[in-house]
Amino acid sequence: MGKKSIITIDGPAGAGKSTVSKALAKRLGYIYLDTGALYRALAYNALNLKTDLDDASALNDLCSTTSVILKNINGEMKVYVGGKDVGEKIRTEEVGLTASKISTFAIVRQSLLNLQREAGRNGGIVAEGRDMGSVVFPYADYKFYLDANVEERIIRRRKELLGKGLSAEYQIIQKDMMERDKQDSERAIAPLKPSADSIIIDSTGLSVFQVVEEIICRISKNTGRE
Ligand code: DC
Repeated sequence: MGKKSIITIDGPAGAGKSTVSKALAKRLGYIYLDTGALYRALAYNALNLKTDLDDASALNDLCSTTSVILKNINGEMKVYVGGKDVGEKIRTEEVGLTASKISTFAIVRQSLLNLQREAGRNGGIVAEGRDMGSVVFPYADYKFYLDANVEERIIRRRKELLGKGLSAEYQIIQKDMMERDKQDSERAIAPLKPSADSIIIDSTGLSVFQVVEEIICRISKNTGRE
């Protein structure tokens, strides 16, 4: 891999995208971009402001009045809302579900598009989300779609939440995940689905290390578009 590529990793909640993308970016000396954090940041503000989540015009106001920026902190693009690092506050299930809900609106997706593209302008980026390969970076050099079976995704998400000291009841996570899967993959705009030119990796039963190795192996075999 000579030039600084754009690598996209899409997939459903709990498939291991964040951990894998972060590890991959570190290994390659690339920037890591978590686009879910952008939707979560808007959702967090919407919850604070008690914005009507079904009202496109209220969401339009939310997008135009919320200042969301990305700052590169040691190779990781961190999300700042109104000048503040939103950090772990956006990691709850409630914020995740709200992000999924507002992300079905065109105005919300449009308001975050340039920010994401700008972050990848010079390449050298691992971008993870739902529509990285299909909409945000359709010209990406390497596109991956990371999946795992639903039980494993629930267990992983539970571990992650517990690790952060957050509440993590199996049945609640299961219900939220089903709702999020449905919402993310059935929405009209930029639905979650592997683009025709993406490489699908099933991470069920694989460690983070094994998935990163598999991705590096696919890249070095030059199975992307480079
Ligand atoms: O990756 P995540 O779980 O933090 O994302 C939260 C929600 O944001 C997800 O359920 C749908 C939405 N999202 C999106 O629509 N497009 C993206 N590229 C990233 C996230």
